[in-house]
Amino acid sequence: MTGDYRVVVLASGRGSNLGALLQKPDARYRVVGVVCNRPDAAALTRAREHAVASQCIDHRDYADREAFDAALAQCVASLRPDLVVLAGFMRILTPTFIQAFAGRLINLHPSLLPRHRGLETHRRALEAGDTEHGASVHFVTADLDAGPVIMQAHLPIEPHDDAASLAQRLLPLEHQLLVACVELLARGSVEWHNGQVLVGEKLLTVPLRLEIAEGIACDSPG
Ligand code: GRF
Repeated sequence: MTGDYRVVVLASGRGSNLGALLQKPDARYRVVGVVCNRPDAAALTRAREHAVASQCIDHRDYADREAFDAALAQCVASLRPDLVVLAGFMRILTPTFIQAFAGRLINLHPSLLPRHRGLETHRRALEAGDTEHGASVHFVTADLDAGPVIMQAHLPIEPHDDAASLAQRLLPLEHQLLVACVELLARGSVEWHNGQVLVGEKLLTVPLRLEIAEGIACDSPG
C-alpha cells in the first residue's frame, strides 16, 4: 500500500478481506485505520501486524444504536477517510452515520445484489435454485444492502455445492473484488455522483464485472 487515498476499514471478525486490502502491492490507497465492534475480532490483530492504527469500539458499551454510531462516527472521522469500507462489519448503521459518510461508504456483500439482501446469502441462493452466486460491492445508503452497486464477482453454483462450499469458493473472489473496487475508487476511475455511480464520464447502469474492472485498473495511466 503506497497511495495517499485514505481508507478506513470497519470489520467485526476474521478480517480476511481486510488482509487482502493490506496485501496489495503498489496500491493507490492506504489503509489508515481499522475499527472493530468486537474486542476479539481477528481483524484487530491483522491491523496490528501491518502497523495500521486499530481501535475497538464495543457496541455492548453503549446504551443504544445511536450512541454507538455517534462514537463510531467520531472515531472514523478522526482518521480523515476518503473511503470507509464495511468488510464483514456485522452492525446495521444508523441513517445519521450513513449520511455523515455518504458517497464515501461502501459495503462488501456476499450475493449478486439485488438478490439476497441481508444474512445467510449462500443458503438462500441454494434454496432459490440459483445457478449463479457471487458478491457485490455497493455504496451504502439508508436502505440495507440496497445502495447503488459498483462491481460484482460471479460464481457458477455447482450441483454438489452446499452453503459452506459456496462460502469457501466465493471468499477469494470477494478479496479480489474488494481490492479491485477500492483501487478504482482510489484512482478516481469510479465515483459517487448524486446517488449514482460514475465510471469515467458515464453513469453506470449495470454493475462492473470483476474481470473487466481489473482490466480498467491495469489500463489506467499512472
Ligand atoms: C465476507 O464473506 C463478507 O462478504 C461478509 O462477511 C464476510 C467477512 O469475511 N459480509 P472477513 O471477515 O473479511 O474474513
